[in-house]
Amino acid sequence: MKIKILFVCLGNICRSPAAESILRKAVENSDLRGLIETDSAGTYGGHAGQPSDERMRRAAARRGYAMTHLARQIHSEDFEMFDLIVVMDDNNYEQVHRSAPSRALAQKIFRMAEFCHTSDCTYIPDPYYEGHAGFERVLDLLEDGCDGILQYLKNQSRS
Ligand code: 4NP
Repeated sequence: MKIKILFVCLGNICRSPAAESILRKAVENSDLRGLIETDSAGTYGGHAGQPSDERMRRAAARRGYAMTHLARQIHSEDFEMFDLIVVMDDNNYEQVHRSAPSRALAQKIFRMAEFCHTSDCTYIPDPYYEGHAGFERVLDLLEDGCDGILQYLKNQSRS
C-alpha cells in the first residue's frame, strides 16, 4: 500500500508543486522508493491547467528538481484519496479545513511548517509577489519540510 501525500497552496503554481517535486526526489533517493505518491492542488482554481510559475520552475531546476505538474483545484474526493494533506499557510489551512467532508477526514490536514526542523517558520510564505530571493527562501523551507516528512514517514513505516 502506497502512502499518498497531497500538498496544497493557494494557486498550485508555486509552493505546492515545488513541494511535490522536492519530496518525490527525496523519496527516490531513500529506502521508501516506490512507496510514496505525491500530488498537489490549490484552494483557488484560477490557474487550473497551467504549468507552474516560470520563476519557481527555474529556481527549482537550478537545485535539480523538475516541475511538470499542471495546476488543479482541490476537491472533496482528495480527502478520501490521500493519507496526508499538507498545507503551506494558515489561509490554506482554513480553506481546506472548511471543505473537509468530515472531522475525521480533516485530521489528515497538516501544516508544512510542522515538519520544518532547521527553520523555526510557522508557515511557508507566498512567493508570488516576491522577487528571486522569495523563491529561494521558499525552496529552502520546502527542502527542510520535505526532509521532516520523510523522517516522519520512515518512523511510521517502522512502527
Ligand atoms: P502559490 O502562489 O499559492 O504558492 O501557488 C500563488 C500563485 C498565484 C497567486 C497567488 C499565490 N495568485 O494570486 O494568482
